[in-house]
Amino acid sequence: MAGIIAPSILSADVTKLGEDVALVEKAGAKYLHVDLMDGSFVPSMAYGPAWVKQLRPQTDLFLDVHLMAVHPENHVEALAEAGADLIGVHVEATPHIHRVLQMIKAAGVKAEVVINPGTPVSAIIPVLGMVDQVLVMTVNPGFGGQAFLPEMVEKIKELSTYKQDNGLDYDIEVDGGINDKTIALTAAAGANVFVAGSYVYDKKDPAAKVAKLLDLTK
Ligand code: DX5
Ligand code: ZN
Repeated sequence: MAGIIAPSILSADVTKLGEDVALVEKAGAKYLHVDLMDGSFVPSMAYGPAWVKQLRPQTDLFLDVHLMAVHPENHVEALAEAGADLIGVHVEATPHIHRVLQMIKAAGVKAEVVINPGTPVSAIIPVLGMVDQVLVMTVNPGFGGQAFLPEMVEKIKELSTYKQDNGLDYDIEVDGGINDKTIALTAAAGANVFVAGSYVYDKKDPAAKVAKLLDLTK
């Protein structure tokens, strides 16, 4: 089955966001990855629920929201109301990961747990039975355009094996440094949702980039 490509609007042109989104939708992307950064959990700031609300009527793409914020529970309701289809929460951002994931599900939104490169898979084993998707960060979050960390491939394999051994069905997403060279490594390890920001948007022809990534996951 072909993978799901999730272009990250962090690298899109905010002055023509609608156009940039339409281009990747037409090219076969199924998800739109929206990064929310609070300037505290990560050094940068980006987007917020108001952006999700404005994007919602502009596209049919599944809105895959990656929340990089301390106190993630403060943002769940606003994001759900704004029209997020999935909310991803970092296990490192809260001492109450079960509670936040439950809040997301109670709001009628798909729930994702996210791990930083320095966090082992063992840290999220207790919640794997309650999530729709797991995000393995393949860079340290905070910026687009960083280099893929190959050591993360083992973690994807571990999550894939755990899923099979335990009859679970979460999707495995990767985010950071995904391009036409790295995507196959993650797909072979078991990832099926691929975020790509700078590779899709930084140079020319976002539509062709999405088509190429899609092809590489077939
Ligand atoms: C990084 C973000 C990513 C970012 C990826 O903190 O979570 O979603 O947009 O950018 P690239 O694909 O350029 O590594
Ligand atoms: Zn992201």
